Amino acid sequence: MKIAVLPGDGIGPEVTAEAVAVLEALALPGLVLGHGDVGASAWRRHGHPLPEATLALAAEADAVLFGAVGDPACDSLERHLRPEQAILGLRKHLGLFANLRPARVFAGLEALSPLRPEIAAGIDLIIVRELTGDVYFGAKGQRTTPEGAREGWDAMSYSEPEVARIAHVAFRAAAAAGRPLTSIDKANVLETSQLWREVVSRIAGEYPAVALDHMYVDNAAMQLVSHPERFGVMLTGNLFGDILSDLASAAVGSIGLLPSASLGERQTAHGTFGLYEPIHGSAPDIAGKGKANPMATILSAAMMLRHSFGLADEAARIEAAVARTLADGIRGADLGGEHGTAAIGAAVRARL
Ligand code: IPM
Ligand code: MG
Repeated sequence: MKIAVLPGDGIGPEVTAEAVAVLEALALPGLVLGHGDVGASAWRRHGHPLPEATLALAAEADAVLFGAVGDPACDSLERHLRPEQAILGLRKHLGLFANLRPARVFAGLEALSPLRPEIAAGIDLIIVRELTGDVYFGAKGQRTTPEGAREGWDAMSYSEPEVARIAHVAFRAAAAAGRPLTSIDKANVLETSQLWREVVSRIAGEYPAVALDHMYVDNAAMQLVSHPERFGVMLTGNLFGDILSDLASAAVGSIGLLPSASLGERQTAHGTFGLYEPIHGSAPDIAGKGKANPMATILSAAMMLRHSFGLADEAARIEAAVARTLADGIRGADLGGEHGTAAIGAAVRARL
């Protein structure tokens, strides 16, 4: 079980340390941890947000545990040196095309949602976001129009195989969960979405047990805050998934609770190679203060055990320990509580 630990910037190192401590507390045989620099901290030490050595460490591991990247001090750097390029580069180089972002409201935390509690209680969904295509990775640039105006441009495209492979991930997730699948697009305007919808509809024939519907992304945003209970699995492209997953996480009440998995095609001995990270960012405002809630990273480690190492029981133990910790009233500042990073980590380990 080779895990590349990439803590990154801001609160990344603090929350990652607690997740590692939880993994170590399970005393899993064969656990080997390697640490690498990534993001602004890597740029400071090595002049690049994703050094070759870090990429090699990640590529040779069975799974990557990632903290967060981002630092306001880097805002004026050229794009290729910005911390965000590290996570985009890892996704692209490691072929991590499938991003799973589960969002559900923990029992008892409904009142923390900005939505009315009875609406928030209905949130129990997984966003399956395509992660290596779309307008994120298309050609882009700035140019001058014939009239002499500056113009920025980004090409959006999806090929049929790209849509097909992420659609299969989403259909399998929906079948496993026994939930409906909603494919999100903007087919009333975009050619890319028209193809997306055709491919998803064709693949639906292979999954007769899954109820599929299609929804425009603007309507999906509206439904997410008014009738979230209607969603089981949401299948999206890269850009729409970026936006909707932030919306879903805010609706849950705290982004300090939401994990994610980014999976590729490479198989490990007992699962699929993947990168696991909290949904939240580097939170520079509270970095180094011991205030960050490590639960999202701890839950990301649980996803790692399930998807990359075939350890579903151990994953469920971690998830139950986190739920128990919350139920016992141990809450970080993000949840209106007073417990710090180390105290929350210790409380979760005590309940494993
Ligand atoms: C995310 C983040 C990234 C993205 C940024 C940091 C490039 O917002 O993981 O959702 O846009 O994919
Ligand atoms: Mg995002």
